[in-house]
Amino acid sequence: MERLKDKVVIITGGAGGIGSGMAKAMVKEGAIVSIVDVNEETGKSMEKELQAYSPNSMFLQADLMDRDNLGKIISTVVDKYGKIDVLVNNAHASKQASFEDTTQADIDLSFNTGFYPTFYLMKAAFPYLKETKGNVINFASGAGLAGHETQASYAAAKEAIRGISRVAANEWGKFGINVNLISPIAYSPGVEAWANAQPEYYESVKNQIPLGRFGDVEKDIGSVAVFLASDDAQYMTGQTLMADGGSIMLR
Ligand SMILES: NC(=O)c1ccc[n+]([C@@H]2O[C@H](COP(=O)([O-])OP(=O)(O)OC[C@H]3O[C@@H](n4cnc5c(N)ncnc54)[C@H](O)[C@@H]3O)[C@@H](O)[C@H]2O)c1
Repeated sequence: MERLKDKVVIITGGAGGIGSGMAKAMVKEGAIVSIVDVNEETGKSMEKELQAYSPNSMFLQADLMDRDNLGKIISTVVDKYGKIDVLVNNAHASKQASFEDTTQADIDLSFNTGFYPTFYLMKAAFPYLKETKGNVINFASGAGLAGHETQASYAAAKEAIRGISRVAANEWGKFGINVNLISPIAYSPGVEAWANAQPEYYESVKNQIPLGRFGDVEKDIGSVAVFLASDDAQYMTGQTLMADGGSIMLR
């Protein structure tokens, strides 16, 4: 199957977790994927895995918190491949704390890893997405949609990302650019760290997933990202797709 044949894709946070699951699902559909990640070790090893399917795929080492890197990511990809078809803003880091213990530093971490890279990469990619009538896939969270406890800094950045995604979907529709979001649940290194830190909270979240399990990063979330990046989703924009085993919308 080659639903994404020769599409040039950028995935932030693509070295691990959901980002790597999407990258693997996309190269198997014929895409050329650039994964951007701060983690050089996992990035290089994922680059090898991706190149087995798509020899031109590459790893770009960059800390998204450094704004100077954001324009460079877009220009590096355009210089190498001549276009961008799909931008996936997946990376996000945050700290959990009760509302009253949430600090300015917590808010800054969440916005500097999640919201600002999404905003500036969308702006920098816009001229190229216009040329390809491309797609943006951003990441939401049930923590933002439902307002989960201890997630003030994360929920704020996630709902800010949903806000700008809907604005861009409205403004860019006339150029044929689709902007959608995925609100996932999947077992990733990030979830593993959280499960170890708050095992009871993790179990309670797991027990409330109607489909009874955490999703698989490639089979359950990568497949949704492939759909959104493909022509099959060309009449969808401004949507938040809940790939979360029914967790939020069935509550
Ligand atoms: N896993 C879930 O159940 C879940 C639930 C809701 C939302 N999400 C969202 O899905 C997306 C992926 O989540 P995940 O669980 O795979 O995350 P993860 O923490 O397991 O992986 C994140 C990746 O991003 C990279 N990264 C982090 N900070 C970076 C930075 N400053 N610069 C460059 N790279 C950086 C990490 O190195 C890592 O490879 C995130 O937007 C997350 O908020 C995940």
